[in-house]
Amino acid sequence: MANQSLLEIQSLRTSFHTEAGIVSAVDGISLKIGAGEIVGVVGESGCGKSVTAQSILRLLDEKALTSYEGEVRFNGVDLLKLSQRQMRGVRGNDISMIFQDPLSSLNPLLTIGEQITETIRSHRKTSKKAALLEAIGLLQLTGIPSPERRVYEYPHQLSGGMRQRVMIAIALACEPKLLIADEPTTALDVTIQAQIMDLLVKLNKELGMSVLLITHDLGVVAEVCHKVAVMYAGQIVETADVATLFSNSQHPYTAGLLHSIPHIDRDRSKPLEAVRGFVPALHQLPKGCRFAPRCLYAEDQCLSDMPELEAKPGISSMARCWHSEKLQREEA
Ligand SMILES: Nc1ncnc2c1ncn2[C@@H]1O[C@H](COP(=O)(O)OP(=O)(O)O)[C@@H](O)[C@H]1O
Ligand SMILES: [Mg+2]
Repeated sequence: MANQSLLEIQSLRTSFHTEAGIVSAVDGISLKIGAGEIVGVVGESGCGKSVTAQSILRLLDEKALTSYEGEVRFNGVDLLKLSQRQMRGVRGNDISMIFQDPLSSLNPLLTIGEQITETIRSHRKTSKKAALLEAIGLLQLTGIPSPERRVYEYPHQLSGGMRQRVMIAIALACEPKLLIADEPTTALDVTIQAQIMDLLVKLNKELGMSVLLITHDLGVVAEVCHKVAVMYAGQIVETADVATLFSNSQHPYTAGLLHSIPHIDRDRSKPLEAVRGFVPALHQLPKGCRFAPRCLYAEDQCLSDMPELEAKPGISSMARCWHSEKLQREEA
């Protein structure tokens, strides 16, 4: 089908059964990722970014605690309708994921080479020797120096940045069409962060692999992504291509995040205040716009009626705001 997205999330709602009742950590999000695209999902801690990623791969405990509504179409197939067995075929074959903390995802008892070859051989019939050569190639591709030596080392012998490269090598071992990266550099220092991001961009260009990049850092989004979705309290509040989002944001929350990008001379002893106030608890969400209690532009309507995510006139963005035009006037 022409123009079909690789991944198309439609009205996804992921709910948890908690002591305080049923809460929807992801509440009706729709998002498309085309082949070869890098799409960013950004928002403060707790807004539902990781739950979104885990829902795509159905990594949450489905029996007791979690329910999904909506659709997650991958190449046209709704992943939410697949059996667990079929889902295992998707994970690591079509879609791979890397996490914030590589140490907890690596096995401390196996060498780097053993872990990569295990992944290769669980997906394809190939000899141990051939898989080891492939593993060395993957380590090289991810920029690990002396890969023919590193392949025999254990995770604890590597730095945090090198471990994340190993995780990426494992993720690449089955040639996924989509890589989901959930805050892959949050635990790393700044120079290493930039190197890992450069690596993701390189892999996107060279392998044509799509990337869903989850981050709380708009600076990273600006450098790496083609499109971006801004999340707030389980919803997407704005989505646009990156240039448009940065030059002409349509939601006050996005504008607030943009103003909070730190300046070089900022006092680092003080925490960053992204937007004043707090994210509402999931079991106590405001009735109207979820951002209204923190919003400088909120009026009566914002407190009573929830705005839809809608296309804004004359621009390629969509935003969930009754008063985007006020923002336009002020920024102009
Ligand atoms: N298994 C779970 N049971 C109940 N609530 C959860 C569960 N996992 C996440 N949540 C809640 O869902 C919300 C979104 O979490 P998450 O997606 O991890 O946020 P983030 O954007 O920081 O990645 C949070 O309020 C979190 O407490
Ligand atoms: Mg998270």
